Amino acid sequence: MEIDGCGQQKQSAREEEGEMNTTEKKKGSAQDKTPLFDAIMAYNRRRPAYFRIPGHRFQRGINRRWREVVGDEIFKFDLTETPYTDDLHNAEGAIAQAQDLAAQVFHAEQTYFLVNGTTCGNQAMVLTAALEGQTVAIARNAHKSALMGLIMSGAKPLYIMPQLHRQWGLHGGVTPEEVERLFSAHPECRGLMVVSPTYYGICSDIRGIAEVCHRHSAILMVDEAHGAHCYFSQELPEGALSQGADMASQSIHKVTGSLTQSSMLHLRSSLVDRARLRANLHMVQSTSPSYLLLTSLDMARHDLAMRGPEMIAEAVKLAQEARKRINEIKGIRCAGRELIGTAGIAALDETRLTISAAALGIEGFRLEQLLFEEYGCDVELSDYKNVLAIVTFANEAQELDRLVDALADISRRHAGGKPLADGAPLPAQPPAVMTPRQAYFAESEVVDWQRAQGRISAEMIAPYPPGIPLVYPGEQITEPVFRFLEEYRQRDGHLQGPADPTLATCRVICKQ
Ligand SMILES: Cc1ncc(COP(=O)(O)O)c(C=O)c1O
Repeated sequence: MEIDGCGQQKQSAREEEGEMNTTEKKKGSAQDKTPLFDAIMAYNRRRPAYFRIPGHRFQRGINRRWREVVGDEIFKFDLTETPYTDDLHNAEGAIAQAQDLAAQVFHAEQTYFLVNGTTCGNQAMVLTAALEGQTVAIARNAHKSALMGLIMSGAKPLYIMPQLHRQWGLHGGVTPEEVERLFSAHPECRGLMVVSPTYYGICSDIRGIAEVCHRHSAILMVDEAHGAHCYFSQELPEGALSQGADMASQSIHKVTGSLTQSSMLHLRSSLVDRARLRANLHMVQSTSPSYLLLTSLDMARHDLAMRGPEMIAEAVKLAQEARKRINEIKGIRCAGRELIGTAGIAALDETRLTISAAALGIEGFRLEQLLFEEYGCDVELSDYKNVLAIVTFANEAQELDRLVDALADISRRHAGGKPLADGAPLPAQPPAVMTPRQAYFAESEVVDWQRAQGRISAEMIAPYPPGIPLVYPGEQITEPVFRFLEEYRQRDGHLQGPADPTLATCRVICKQ
């Protein structure tokens, strides 16, 4: 695999890799190893009298009912740091080897296994990019873990709002031009975090954004929670690290075969202070990291390295066929490549099926309910206009058939429904009076929501989905924000962030 100086994976090399990357050809290669799995198996073969944590002593102390269902073997992997099983926070043995193998697969210089999800990867990235009082830019559709990183670091955020795709009611990408404008106006800004792909598979032009960031000596951090599979298919958007991102965090558990909470943070940069990154990772993760999760990362990497292209090709094929069939159903649409080039969208992960029955007058929320309760199809999420179905390599064709058949039946039942109007655009970003950290630690009080207009919010308030915060802690609840949220609240919309999820009350900063 050839990677040029800017971390760009050349197309010809990608093609070559695609052809070569079969399980057969890779058998016996370095990537065929599973160092952490092997170390734990070897440790278990010693059958030691066990006086360490965890207290369940392999399977013996586990609840019987649970053991009867899941068997005993899995519990033998639930170990702790020993000289034989290495230590995540000071990896030198099996975990270090497993991380190195993962780094090769994802074109990184260094990979860190994470046991607290991409949540902690994002926190560590923000903490590393900017110190207290320094400036860092964050896409406004960032996951709430970016806000947590801001609260922990005390950094001063600047936000970039991704463009809105009105017809689909989805937020698109961040463009290099917007990033250029931001850095030209704020040369002190230390870095930028963007989400690419988003939940809906929408990707920004990471190569273009990386070029702008690096010209301004700033770090590009990509929340690639939804993108680990992109490194294994030429039909999917190119991975962020191959396009020049300095750091990318990936929820390996979301799209490939590792266990929930297991993620990776990849580094490929001369701009990042590695010692600081390591210290920050130490801060945001348990001192007793789960070996079940760590082993699952080693094994998922093994699968991806050995047969990733075949696995992901299967997911792409299933999704593309389903998309085609869904788009033949009257009144139902599934977003596809036609989105590319609109609303800052540079590429689309086609394994994400964004499905709308808006033309039949069915809101996404209702469609999700119908699909589950009446047809047994459980989709990932819904918003006003759409539902999102995630297709992975582990889905089966008959599951996609069920989804398509369900949509066809819904279309028949709801023929003649009145099309939904477009959703209201989000109000303008309100002024920030304090940093998120200052607001988080300031004296605050709970007030009746009706009295909150004009006050400084102590909480993030985000209609979810899409989860884009209308106010961050430290920002003013302006009249347009108040009006938007009041209407949303009355429609019983789901809110993320406020302690009172009904928003009958809200926490604001005390007046001086
Ligand atoms: C864009 C994005 N970033 C980060 C996360 C957090 O990832 P994890 O669940 O691995 O902590 C999520 C979770 O849904 C997400 O959607």
